[in-house]
Amino acid sequence: MGVGRVWAGLCVAFGVGLFTSWATLAKASDVVATADSPDHALSVKVMVDGEGRLSYEVDRKGATLIAPSRLGFLLANARELDGHFSLDGQEASTHDDTWEQPWGERRFVRDHYNELRVHVMQKAFDDRKMTIVFRLFDDGLGFRYEFPDQPQLKNVKILSELTEFDVADPATAWWNIGGGWDQLEYLYQKTPLDQVAQANTPMTVKTDKGVYIAFHEAALVDYASMWLRREDGQRLRAQLVPSSVGPAVDRDAPFATPWRTMIITDRAADLYNSNIELNLNAPNKLGDVSSWVKPAKYIGIWWEMHLGLATWSSGPTHGANTANVEKYMDFAAKNGFRGVLVEGWNKGWDGEWNGSGADFSFTEPYPDFDIAAISAYGLKKGVHLIGHAETGGNMARYESQMDASFQQDVKYGIDSVKTGYVTDAGTDRMLAPDGGVVYGYSDSQIGTQHYLRDVLAAAKYHIMLDSHEPIKDTGLRRTYPNWVSREGARGQEYNAWGNPPNPPNHIANLVFTRMLTGPFDYTPGVISLEGHNQPIKATQAKELALYVLIYSPVQMAADLPENYAKYPGAFQFIKDVPTDWDQTICLNGEPGDFATIVRKDRHSDDWYLGATTNDDARSVDVKLDFLDPGKTYVAEIYRDGEGAGDVGDARFKIAIEKQKVTSTDSLTLKMAPGGGEAIRFVADTAKHH
Ligand code: NOJ
Ligand code: CA
Repeated sequence: MGVGRVWAGLCVAFGVGLFTSWATLAKASDVVATADSPDHALSVKVMVDGEGRLSYEVDRKGATLIAPSRLGFLLANARELDGHFSLDGQEASTHDDTWEQPWGERRFVRDHYNELRVHVMQKAFDDRKMTIVFRLFDDGLGFRYEFPDQPQLKNVKILSELTEFDVADPATAWWNIGGGWDQLEYLYQKTPLDQVAQANTPMTVKTDKGVYIAFHEAALVDYASMWLRREDGQRLRAQLVPSSVGPAVDRDAPFATPWRTMIITDRAADLYNSNIELNLNAPNKLGDVSSWVKPAKYIGIWWEMHLGLATWSSGPTHGANTANVEKYMDFAAKNGFRGVLVEGWNKGWDGEWNGSGADFSFTEPYPDFDIAAISAYGLKKGVHLIGHAETGGNMARYESQMDASFQQDVKYGIDSVKTGYVTDAGTDRMLAPDGGVVYGYSDSQIGTQHYLRDVLAAAKYHIMLDSHEPIKDTGLRRTYPNWVSREGARGQEYNAWGNPPNPPNHIANLVFTRMLTGPFDYTPGVISLEGHNQPIKATQAKELALYVLIYSPVQMAADLPENYAKYPGAFQFIKDVPTDWDQTICLNGEPGDFATIVRKDRHSDDWYLGATTNDDARSVDVKLDFLDPGKTYVAEIYRDGEGAGDVGDARFKIAIEKQKVTSTDSLTLKMAPGGGEAIRFVADTAKHH
């Protein structure tokens, strides 16, 4: 028992009047290690209190940003990793290098940080050791726990993680529910931080001093995912997703937890410009993937089912019939789309597939889908069939056919697959370590194992993966670059049947929350702006802007071919916009209000711009100083026209015009309520129409 506790007992005995003197007498936390960011703006302190409890604090420009916050664990199979700690050494180092992405928002990524490794030991508990590693970047930090190989704690069963994040100044939060039935497909709420209950990450906050912090995690591998649970005030706790087979995490040492990350910036736009998450993931383990991982656009037999015009299930309205697919392949070939996704091609859709998946076959097509003929038809035209594996949340059934299904893909020249896990949170049928099947959360530890097995199996067959109803993105695309995209948020499908459909502020929310994690297969491009008997609340120019605002290396043109035929002017932008980038800059924005992003094509000198507003009309001035100096560009502008708005015919008021610009020019983007703007800047060296 420490001195503090003895004194506390005495104080209680002598009455509350003595409490102040106890507070001053109790042994305060000792700062045992510190580090700062390369630009010295951020610093972290690690403290051990009189009871041997660990905590950390983050300061920025001399002010406290994260007040002292706990570190540690409660274990199921051993005494707690909390209290009784003392410092057992520390190391500091600096790292600065630049690495190249096979595909991405930008080609080169600088990884510049100061690292602090803090070794701690519990003398009272067999000298058990643990290391906390901090990496401080100029725009934020990450920290994680390392469990070394030690006989006194070989197997680690984590009941709960004690990690806290206590935001020092009053703050506003943009967040959605963690652990809700609809998994990651919730709208964002904006509330005072002290009204958050349990949030999914990333959660973005802005303090009343104007500092933005985006909380998330990086490199979530074989560990429970983290929700943020508010304990009291503005103190959040890392709430590990429960497991169905025991404690939240069961690992053998040595291992490291995922990084707990905070991007910290003065401008919301710079949250988006941060590379912290990718930098905190391990380098590419798949080697050179350039011959088989192909960023590209695709179309598909998809929106017509969401509109209720065709069915996934078999019968007279079956969308995935040979003639219909060949029609899509013709359209793809004519308009330069590499892929055609076909949902409902396989047996299993006829009963209650949603949340059951019990009938799915991942190799047997319905009889009206001639897979051999279809794939050959496409390949002759340079069009690739995209595989589809909806599991209904039945991971176990999918795993039993995973290899066979990838083998069949290879046989038919299919090199990318979209998966799906439509089920309520906690009801995925998952493979337990003993080979049994249990119901559980897809983002629990055994859920992370499933998604990784799928990615690795796909990689073995040189197949790109696009997971829907996925585990959240924590930057693993750096390590496994065949994991090209995923859903993991409320996408276009909600505009078909969602109640409510996606509101006008949704995209400006996504940019500063979900999009901080990586690619999102939102499936944009519904320029007919009509769902299943409900209008889409957006302008046509905004729908085009999504191709720049919402990054994905595989990007769908989601509307029906006949709708594209109605709007050839707007469709031209969808045909032109690339999906792989040399450079990306978020120029401006505020969560839920607006955002402007520019990206440079990887394969030409052209730049693209996408901007969105929320319900409000808005003028945004944009300096074109991102363009190459000295070059002339023709800006092909797709903007909200006179009288544009997000209801009725006003949605289709788009002005398409050209203007010569250079890097010394500025443009004023005038966006209608629910509107946006898309621009292609064609460099004078390139062709334009
Ligand atoms: C949900 C996915 O997000 C959607 O894209 C797909 O069409 C359905 N599941 C059916 O697999
Ligand atoms: Ca979905």
